[in-house]
Amino acid sequence: MANNCGLVSVLGIFLSFTLVHNMVIVSGQNIPSVALFAFGDSNFDAGNRKYLTSATLAQNFWPYGKSRDDPNGKFSDGKIVPVVIADASAQQAFVISVINRLKYNIVMLYSSGASKFVVHNVAPLGCLPIVRQEFNTGNECYEKFNDLAKQHNARLGPMLNELAKAKPGFQFTLFDFYNVILRRTQGNMNYRYSFTNISCCGIGSHNAYGCGFPNVHSKLCEYQRSYLYSDARHNTEKAQESFAHLLFGADPNVVQPINIRELITYPVNEDMSEFWKEPVGDILLLDDGIDVKVSGSM
Ligand SMILES: *[C@@H]1O[C@H](CO)[C@@H](O)[C@H](O)[C@H]1NC(C)=O
Repeated sequence: MANNCGLVSVLGIFLSFTLVHNMVIVSGQNIPSVALFAFGDSNFDAGNRKYLTSATLAQNFWPYGKSRDDPNGKFSDGKIVPVVIADASAQQAFVISVINRLKYNIVMLYSSGASKFVVHNVAPLGCLPIVRQEFNTGNECYEKFNDLAKQHNARLGPMLNELAKAKPGFQFTLFDFYNVILRRTQGNMNYRYSFTNISCCGIGSHNAYGCGFPNVHSKLCEYQRSYLYSDARHNTEKAQESFAHLLFGADPNVVQPINIRELITYPVNEDMSEFWKEPVGDILLLDDGIDVKVSGSM
């Protein structure tokens, strides 16, 4: 009974944790720095207690922190809720600062006279051979990095729309590189790659180290056109050819709101009549070179 009451009050306290925005602006980019204060019992101890007592505390020793190879004074094998929330908000601040920087650079180019912009979104970084090898994910992608790329990409289209609406004659097209790579990674047989998880050149579990280094005996695959990745983070010629074709002529499910062929012929100084839209529906795997997105459930 006493325990139940304790639990209820702790939940109450945690729900009222404070996000304090002291209006410090991170390098002029309108990102308020945020301090997170968590109040609660041992479940919410961020590891401060070791500074408050000279007693020996169990939570500073193995197996606490085991999942992170480091006892950190928290009553968990690793992170606790407030820390995970703090990590997520740090990630969000990082993504916002990257997008703001990009926007700033695009506006600089526009001010210098550029008016037609072709933009790639960010690839599923967690699927790069270098990342799979570094994080030992075997045949899986490292989802944390894919999430980061997704967060970035979700803000990219709206940022470009905003510029197109605000700046006379600003035209853009946005290539959905993320899903183009992901489709080839997941359903590689449809796109006629034999290997999408390892690179052609390099050493290590995913051939991800040392391609081209004079002191490394890196492996080189026999037939580069059966690989998506040439080295640990760059695509092969075959892949680049297909991306170029998609950029030039593909449908809005791949390149939005218009493709490069249309962008080139779009009258200069004219405002765009269509804008980037949030893709809806699932991605279908069809025949070679066909990238299709459908709405509804199929
Ligand atoms: C890469 O994919 C191939 C073919 O699907 C598979 O046989 C192999 O185990 C994978 N390699 C790694 C390191 O995940």
